[in-house]
Amino acid sequence: MRPIIPDYLIEVLKDVESDTSGAPAGYIPELAAADPERLGVAFATIEGEVYGAGDIDTEFTIQSISKPFVYAMALSDRGFDSVLARVGVEPSGEAFNQISLERDTGRPLNPMINAGAITVHSLVGTADLEPSARVARVIGGLSAFASRPLATDETVRASEMAHAHRNLAMAHMLRSHGILTEDAHAVVDGYTRQCSVLVTTRDLAIMAATLANRGTNPLSGEQVVPEPVVRQVLSVMFSCGMYDAAGDWATQVGIPAKSGVAGGLIGALPGQIGIAAFSPRLDRHGNSVRGVSLFERFSSDMGMHLMDIPTIARAVVRSSHTIGSGPHALQILELQGGIGFAGAESVLRAMDASFLENRLALDLTRVHSIDDVARRMLLEATSRLTLDGHDIYLVDPESVIPDPGDGGRLTEVDTVHQAMNPPYATAQHGSQRRREGLGQ
Ligand code: DON
Repeated sequence: MRPIIPDYLIEVLKDVESDTSGAPAGYIPELAAADPERLGVAFATIEGEVYGAGDIDTEFTIQSISKPFVYAMALSDRGFDSVLARVGVEPSGEAFNQISLERDTGRPLNPMINAGAITVHSLVGTADLEPSARVARVIGGLSAFASRPLATDETVRASEMAHAHRNLAMAHMLRSHGILTEDAHAVVDGYTRQCSVLVTTRDLAIMAATLANRGTNPLSGEQVVPEPVVRQVLSVMFSCGMYDAAGDWATQVGIPAKSGVAGGLIGALPGQIGIAAFSPRLDRHGNSVRGVSLFERFSSDMGMHLMDIPTIARAVVRSSHTIGSGPHALQILELQGGIGFAGAESVLRAMDASFLENRLALDLTRVHSIDDVARRMLLEATSRLTLDGHDIYLVDPESVIPDPGDGGRLTEVDTVHQAMNPPYATAQHGSQRRREGLGQ
């Protein structure tokens, strides 16, 4: 069979190739000299499969795409409170190089604009770190996200540093507000090195997939940053990642994203894939023209917009029926699919409405997943029912609820048949587990 995904990627590349509008970044002379025809796109799944088309192994500098990853490092190294005390999370609605600071505190509005990213660079590692050790931590962290050792492009770094007057001015302002506590020039030098790290489109897709995969690199298996950090980073990418085009992006594409002035663009679709595109011509916001078109295409072709409402799940309560009669009658609620808050709510209503017998079996045989809030809701309900004197059985052969410890006096069995036959309660069989929970 001809591979479907690479064929699709080749087709969309062909569709955007003819668009030669925009221009490579001009304010860093070395970037202005980039080959504008380069074009590549890659998908990396959270299982570590990479699909690509075009120039996916061409190296270019990461630039602002480093910002979400270095923000993740600062959050991991210093904790949320100390980072949030110095850099906010509000969209600025302004260009990446605007001096968007809170009026009273001087705090940069978010970590995606330069003022925020320069501050964030200073927050990586411990407070007493030497500038060169901080840069080493940043490059090491970016390498862990990419699962290969990365290095800087010295020519681009020198070219940007020679023209970094605006970033230097910003750093001095931040220093005057007490937001930056270190030498302003050293921090801008470190930040410029961070921006000059060389990556390929393939690397960027894997880095984005690491975010999509709750912070665990799908190739190396390394947990690069903790999960709560990933949620914070993806949220800020969603609201601020595309600067003054962030609102258009959120409505039209709907994927947490980040662009860089060398022409890279990444998107992370939580729990699914990392996407990266590369094409050096930029629009007036500093975002890759063809990269933006590619993402618009992916979002609409594949329903990747995060605000697309998922197709309504099948009813969680598959059936409700009673077996037997008299004191041994057993009411069986057969559940199915994945259960979240709304599904658990419908189970609670079914338990309330139909629970007439003394004995109830919740049959989870066809349930493939249950999230934390749904698990707690169901166990709280079983706990309350057992307190009221009912016998409750959890038919859970795959242990989708691995430890129903707070479900009251609950008997866990592997089959409905076991719940129907009285010896179950004596837990003679290893798989028939009588749990003593909070309700006793
Ligand atoms: O600070 C700068 O100007 C660059 N090193 C990075 C800017 C950038 O990539 C903006 N993104 N589109």
